[in-house]
Amino acid sequence: MHGSHLHVLDHPIAKVCLTQLRHRATSPERFRVAMQRLSALVFTEASRDIPLVNMPVQTPIMDTTGSIFASPIVLVPILRAGLGMVDGILSLVPDAVVAHLGICRDEETARPQSYYAKLPPLLSSAEVFLLDPMLATGGSAIEATRQLKAVGASRIRLVGIIACPEGIQAFTAAHPDVPVHTSAIDQRLNDRSYIVPGLGDAGDRYFGT
Ligand code: PRP
Ligand code: URA
Repeated sequence: MHGSHLHVLDHPIAKVCLTQLRHRATSPERFRVAMQRLSALVFTEASRDIPLVNMPVQTPIMDTTGSIFASPIVLVPILRAGLGMVDGILSLVPDAVVAHLGICRDEETARPQSYYAKLPPLLSSAEVFLLDPMLATGGSAIEATRQLKAVGASRIRLVGIIACPEGIQAFTAAHPDVPVHTSAIDQRLNDRSYIVPGLGDAGDRYFGT
């Protein structure tokens, strides 16, 4: 399962943030802060290989060469819980475009239901980061990636917080070309398709619902 397309962040700050997210007594306020911080950390690793181009820059001392991103960066949070990852990542890449996909699980079947899509043109030339904290059955991320590919996106990375073996297997089988970045791989799904030990319902905890 630990193929070259699966990346698990191994960093002490990430582990402490993740513990705060898991703890049932963490308030929505602290949950939001930890989610934003951990999202920025996972994104930092997920963006390690995005291409740059040189640009001339004048320092107060002399001319030199700097770098800019070669392609636009597009963040695509899956509503709702993916929204909780956006601000932390925007603190690192403030010029990124933010597109939205609304997908939620049917409470009985856990199958993904698509209810909203607002995607920019020219995704084919962009570095696309699909954001969803939880990779559970994988259904939501599989459907979101299908929609992104259908409008031309080709350079897609999935960035999350907690994955599980079932979700990783399903996602990599459906989209073997898309790297998966996460801060943890948990044990399994329970009989309601929640990740164990997980952190509960990410959207409910982030938004306090
Ligand atoms: C959660 C989560 C993921 C999805 C993961 O969304 O935010 O999008 O479940 O599960 P999957 O891998 O089995 O598809 P949910 O359906 O609870 O919607 P919400 O974010 O609006 O609460
Ligand atoms: N969605 C969540 O928010 N949590 C889970 O454990 C599974 C799906």
